[in-house]
Amino acid sequence: MRLKSLEYVESGDIIGKPVYDDKCQLLLAKNVVLSQNYIERLKKANIQCVYIEDDLSEGIEFNNVISDELKIRSISAVKSVFKDMSENKGHSYQIKSIESIKSVVEEIMRVIYDNPSTLYCMAELMGTDMYTYNHSAEVAVLSMLVAKSMKLNETFIQKIGIGAMLHDIGKMSIPGEVLNKVEPLSEAEMKLVKAHVQYGYDMLKENDFISPLSRQIVLLHHEKLNGVGYPYGLAGDQIPIHVRIVTLCDIFNAISSNRAYKGRLNADEALEILRTEAVYELDRDIYYHMLKVVNIYPPGTVVELTNGEIGIVIKENHEAQTRPVVQVIRDRKKAEVVDLMDYLTLFIRKTIEI
Ligand SMILES: [Fe+2]
Repeated sequence: MRLKSLEYVESGDIIGKPVYDDKCQLLLAKNVVLSQNYIERLKKANIQCVYIEDDLSEGIEFNNVISDELKIRSISAVKSVFKDMSENKGHSYQIKSIESIKSVVEEIMRVIYDNPSTLYCMAELMGTDMYTYNHSAEVAVLSMLVAKSMKLNETFIQKIGIGAMLHDIGKMSIPGEVLNKVEPLSEAEMKLVKAHVQYGYDMLKENDFISPLSRQIVLLHHEKLNGVGYPYGLAGDQIPIHVRIVTLCDIFNAISSNRAYKGRLNADEALEILRTEAVYELDRDIYYHMLKVVNIYPPGTVVELTNGEIGIVIKENHEAQTRPVVQVIRDRKKAEVVDLMDYLTLFIRKTIEI
């Protein structure tokens, strides 16, 4: 099984993992053979990529941190809070759905403690209409894993998860035409978008379920270490550690999806952008913890090696993530298997699509 961008998907490809629509309902089941009609349906639903089964990826399996089922429940929980909040005009004290956020975060906690070696792998299997909810769930899982890698305590991690799930809740007060605008925003529109942090904080302050620590994440997640962020322009240690974790995971997820940059980026490209572009703005220690928990080359990733050969990753390497086991491909057929730990002068140059 491997992940393939929709632009590379062809008729005859076999679906390896179910695909869901923006109501979290099944769009295509596992083992469905894609026809042009199905591909059009996927495009219409704004699906970016799908898992497919083909000869090259036969037998390749990998485990993401949380199951698709738990991920979908997390996304639904975030969506319900947004919906209930807009129906209650931003008053959260009577919002029951916030409790469901707490329970999915508890479940994610159990999963990450029961499976300590499972790595995070981002894969948006839903349309871009679900972006905000999908993004919130992804940021929460990654933030919790990073916090665990930093050996923060469990109660703290749980509060980080809840804050991360709700970090963009204030966006529900911003008109969709501003949020989804492709052209550059005017000064007034930019001011409005930036206000989402205060709106979100104000919405949650009446709810006893949400700890002050989680609320702080909502208010401060756009602050930057060098003081260029908002709403207060805080710098360095003024920004609490739990906020810095979510900020980094938020940016990683945004640049990996197709929102901020054109086209979906793989984890290696997104991490490289973070490393070079955010030297002064983001926390480097947290970045190193992120490198430990993100699956940079998950099984099924097609890569180009420095000797010009093309290969498909068949097994990740937990100790040295940039040196997985690769099945070399020649003329679209499997050739030898190369464990990059045995060939230390051979490197992955980049991930590619075939
Ligand atoms: Fe935000």
